[in-house]
Amino acid sequence: MDSAKTYKALVVREGDDKRFSKAIEEVSMDFLPKGEVLIRVHYAALNYKDALSASGHKGITKSYPHTPGVDASGIVEESQSSDFKEGDKVIVTSYDLGMNTKGGFAEYISVPAHWVVPLPSGMSLLEAMVIGTAGFTAALALHKMELNGQKPSMGEILVSGASGGVGSLAVNLLHGAGYTVIASSGKSEYYPWLKKIGAKHCINREELIPQDDRPLMRSRWAGAIDTVGGETLSSILRACGRNGSVASCGLVRSPFFEISVYPFILNGVNLLGVDSAETPLSLRRHLWNELSGHWKPGNLEDMHKEVSLEEIPGYMNDILSGETVGRIIASLA
Ligand SMILES: NC(=O)c1ccc[n+]([C@@H]2O[C@H](COP(=O)([O-])OP(=O)(O)OC[C@H]3O[C@@H](n4cnc5c(N)ncnc54)[C@H](OP(=O)(O)O)[C@@H]3O)[C@@H](O)[C@H]2O)c1
Repeated sequence: MDSAKTYKALVVREGDDKRFSKAIEEVSMDFLPKGEVLIRVHYAALNYKDALSASGHKGITKSYPHTPGVDASGIVEESQSSDFKEGDKVIVTSYDLGMNTKGGFAEYISVPAHWVVPLPSGMSLLEAMVIGTAGFTAALALHKMELNGQKPSMGEILVSGASGGVGSLAVNLLHGAGYTVIASSGKSEYYPWLKKIGAKHCINREELIPQDDRPLMRSRWAGAIDTVGGETLSSILRACGRNGSVASCGLVRSPFFEISVYPFILNGVNLLGVDSAETPLSLRRHLWNELSGHWKPGNLEDMHKEVSLEEIPGYMNDILSGETVGRIIASLA
């Protein structure tokens, strides 16, 4: 790595007053960690976790200055690993990228070789980022649900936070895999779009706020992918049909929820944890191949908008307040 060279990055700094600022800076290559693979980033996706990191959330990023960005796709420029060579098209999502390792909101990333996935055939660098951690998380959720017996014939699957990144990719993926999807969203103006990408019905997310504390409710869905957490997750579990699986992916409403054991011991409901960040490489490669093959989401062109590196800071608060729709992709090449 030529340390005389510089590159452009979004840098978040912590001031002496403990306030955080973010700006696009021209930084030395020495700002990057000493990884095994140096990648020229072509696209990066904006995620909820990036907005937390950019706002100084110490549970995500312990020390600053820092560059967020948990998702990047690009071309290998230097490699000390025999698994990759200059010119290879690759994807890096999750692990520690963008958390405590300088992330994808920059022209370069430098990472360990075992974080790097070769771009599967049948997928472009842009498509890989429209899918990104969000689509990978949805794929991991569906994979775990099917391992636990979920089948399209069991009935409809609910997706909460459906207009968000993980939610919209989950709607799309489930539809493509043969499931009938109910999309729960707070944005009724996006119901037509949710139907276009695969939802059969849409419901207002307020319907998922429990109205009473009955331990079980009338069965309304055969399974669910939940990105919201809190009382929404409690409600989803109480109204899940017999032997259905509910994949818990997120916490945009709350990380805490209250529930009795009745959905589990009377209805056999499975509550499944989804941790995309630490997925072992073999399963990671398998799911990326599925996402470029028979699980490839349709309508990817309708699911994102492209922005520049300079525009990223303007989206961080919108993400935290749940106002964004689909995927926002920064174009960096
Ligand atoms: N487990 C994993 O491996 C993994 C991987 C990626 C992300 N995540 C987590 O998944 C969650 C979603 O991430 P994302 O990137 O998809 O975020 P996002 O694009 O910001 O989408 C979140 C969506 O949740 C809904 N929402 C927001 N605030 C809400 C509230 N107070 N109550 C109910 N619904 C609310 C909104 O959708 P509607 O307006 O349509 O309701 C919003 O668009 C986050 O918690 C993130 O940390 C987990």
